[in-house]
Amino acid sequence: MSSKRLSKLDAPKNITGVEKALNEHDFIVSKTDTKGFITYCNEIFATMAGYSFGELIGANHNLIRHPEMPKLAYKILWDKIQSKQEFFGFVKNLCADGGHYWVYAYITADLDTNGNIIGYTSVRRRPPQSAIDQIVPIYKRLLDAERSGGVESSMRLLNELLNNNDLEYDEFIINLQIGANL
Ligand SMILES: Cc1cc2nc3c(=O)[nH]c(=O)nc-3n(C[C@H](O)[C@H](O)[C@H](O)COP(=O)(O)O)c2cc1C
Repeated sequence: MSSKRLSKLDAPKNITGVEKALNEHDFIVSKTDTKGFITYCNEIFATMAGYSFGELIGANHNLIRHPEMPKLAYKILWDKIQSKQEFFGFVKNLCADGGHYWVYAYITADLDTNGNIIGYTSVRRRPPQSAIDQIVPIYKRLLDAERSGGVESSMRLLNELLNNNDLEYDEFIINLQIGANL
């Protein structure tokens, strides 16, 4: 593998649909600067994504953005972490070979002693299959809504779903991660 620093433009165009599962006890860890450019990642990150450290350090996290992910997921992510709240969510990531892997991600802001955001840290685990099975059709509906009516439309849809189940966003995600059926 080369050590060329990669950008979103280098992401694979051939989406294979082949899933790579994270081992049950593994954690994928990365740290970014305030714009989402990777400053650190662990070996499991590099192995799962299929890139070398040289390619990943300095690359933007959107290198592994999967096209089947709704924009809304990243809007929620950035809104939460930029306001120093924790983000929990399910993310389908794109591997260098066009395959993918699902993660349950936890992201939080890194603060300096004055409380200023100096970067972000993400730790990810393997989600249960029941969570993936439930989130896939929801993300598909959100993506369809975005294609016709933009992120406002997918946000309206997600809020309806949460209201119908009487759940806050975090509760909804955590329930899925502990194996609940909604
Ligand atoms: C600490 C941290 C970790 C992130 N992890 C991922 C990730 O695993 N996959 C992903 O697609 N985006 C991740 N993002 C979000 C990306 O920075 C980006 O917002 C997203 O990929 C959408 O990019 P786009 O708006 O250019 O399409 C992360 C951001 C931060 C700050």
